Amino acid sequence: MAHTILASAESSGESSGENAIARRQSQENGSQEILSVDSVSVHLDGRQVLRDVSFVLKEGELTGLIGSNGAGKTTLFRVILGLVAPTSGEVLLAGAPRSRRNRLVGYLPQDVSLDPDMPLRARDLVALGVDGHRLGLPLPSAARRALVDEMLEAVEASSFANARVGKLSGGEQQRVLIAHALVGRPRLLLLDEPLANLDLRSEQEVVALLARISTEQGVAILISTHDINPLVPVMDRVVYLASGRAASGTTDEVVTTEALSALYGHHVDVVHVHDRVLVVAGREPVAYRHRQEEPVVEVI
Ligand SMILES: Nc1ncnc2c1ncn2[C@@H]1O[C@H](COP(=O)(O)OP(=O)(O)OP(=O)(O)O)[C@@H](O)[C@H]1O
Ligand SMILES: [Mg+2]
Repeated sequence: MAHTILASAESSGESSGENAIARRQSQENGSQEILSVDSVSVHLDGRQVLRDVSFVLKEGELTGLIGSNGAGKTTLFRVILGLVAPTSGEVLLAGAPRSRRNRLVGYLPQDVSLDPDMPLRARDLVALGVDGHRLGLPLPSAARRALVDEMLEAVEASSFANARVGKLSGGEQQRVLIAHALVGRPRLLLLDEPLANLDLRSEQEVVALLARISTEQGVAILISTHDINPLVPVMDRVVYLASGRAASGTTDEVVTTEALSALYGHHVDVVHVHDRVLVVAGREPVAYRHRQEEPVVEVI
């Protein structure tokens, strides 16, 4: 029997970090539900991509949206944004049906690429987020400049605020893009794979930054990633996507053999290896790829 590693998570005995537990305790009294996804199913080109997905997000909470390539993470973001209509089910933003260009929602799409020759400073890109849907912006007012400065400071990007954004490093660009998404003062921030292409240090810095922003600004943050590892220390909740279906709850509730086996529809093991948790699914060897029954290993 060969094995497929589907996901992995850091663990230091317990799989939720102390920060997340403390943050959750402080939020239990009175935090408001900002997003409700209720029994959402989506078909694209006649194929079912999401099946009966349900979860809620509360203000001040940081939630990881975990799933392998093609699991439906971006599709779910597009449903929340009102860009894809669900076949069935409902999405409520602050208790009301969501609409396109809703000012309650900030969004950082997957794989944003910034041209190094683009004559745009980091602070200009953030300023575009203030009224990003309008072309022909007037010169920034003092209030607008103060808001941009505040956001640059919040993401620790003040030192490179005047640099050309396309020439910044990947980690620096990610901070500026987060500030761009935050500057409209959303109550829900959707970040599609914001950790992709970051080295370990930048990844840890961006994750710590997002955890601080969600607490300090009371924003609900949903971060998609195929690797749960970096989010485990700070995550309040997890939405785990597989086969178009979702399991949601705390990391301890969701990243278990029982919950993930039920989600995948076949047995998986949640295995602790050193300081990590691996989600391992047994399956028959793929003969044409692994003639000698070597383990099939895919890390998402
Ligand atoms: N417009 C579309 N028409 C048809 N199928 C689509 C469309 N958009 C996405 N899909 C399919 O839906 C599935 C989910 O895609 P999606 O982009 O949501 O996955 P993802 O979890 O974001 O993957 P990745 O980690 O690679 O970004 C994929 O199989 C994809 O091919
Ligand atoms: Mg995607």
